[in-house]
Amino acid sequence: MRRKLAAGNWKMNGLRADLEQLRSLCAAKGGEDTDILICPPALLIAEAAALCRGHSIHIGGQDCHMARSGAHTGDVSAAMLKDAGATAVILGHSERRADRGETNDIVQDKARAAQNAGLMAIICVGESLEERENQATLDVIRQQIAASVPEGVTGDNTVIAYEPCWAIGTGLTASPEQIGEVHDFIRALLEDRFGSDKGQSVRLLYGGSVKPDNASQIFAVPNVDGALVGGASLKASDFLPIIKALDDAAKPS
Ligand code: PGA
Repeated sequence: MRRKLAAGNWKMNGLRADLEQLRSLCAAKGGEDTDILICPPALLIAEAAALCRGHSIHIGGQDCHMARSGAHTGDVSAAMLKDAGATAVILGHSERRADRGETNDIVQDKARAAQNAGLMAIICVGESLEERENQATLDVIRQQIAASVPEGVTGDNTVIAYEPCWAIGTGLTASPEQIGEVHDFIRALLEDRFGSDKGQSVRLLYGGSVKPDNASQIFAVPNVDGALVGGASLKASDFLPIIKALDDAAKPS
């Protein structure tokens, strides 16, 4: 049984005063069956982790360097994230693939660094609008999974987030059919490569304009184990109903 995961990606949003939102999340809490993760900007991780200690809300990074340490001005290593109190890190987000030229190979090296540091890597994949319109979605996903995901994957050290680029921050969401098709495809790829047990244990998140009003519909799709949420994770009042929808989806029917 895979535990559900509600992950929030604050991106480059949030000052120390916004940690108030985390206090509200801690006060309200999620259900027993759902893991909750917030990935604030790196500078807030230590304070956020301290604040959430004992509240079963986990804190993660939004990126890490592939090296453990060294001459990489401005970068943060997986070991540093871990040391600050993070338990996870988002890797290969489409904004980093687009803005920073991160290739599948780079993402794989970073995922390996995360594994070695004991962080759970949330590896993001997803097609552009052009690729979808050219019926290339599954080919793109196959390639991204093959080249971005390292060996040694387990349900504890890896999560895959399917985030169609055209649905991120646009208010457009993939339909349940589109989400289901890609999630089933990713599940089959993981089972093929890592064997049935490990392939079944990796959680698959959907991301792209997940909001309180569409969350239940998305969480009803088979092989959707949760969400990676951008905009709607910034305010506890938006994120809590998404957590609640996931809790409800986790309850045996
Ligand atoms: P969004 O972002 O929920 O604001 O669309 C999702 C993401 O980029 O992870």
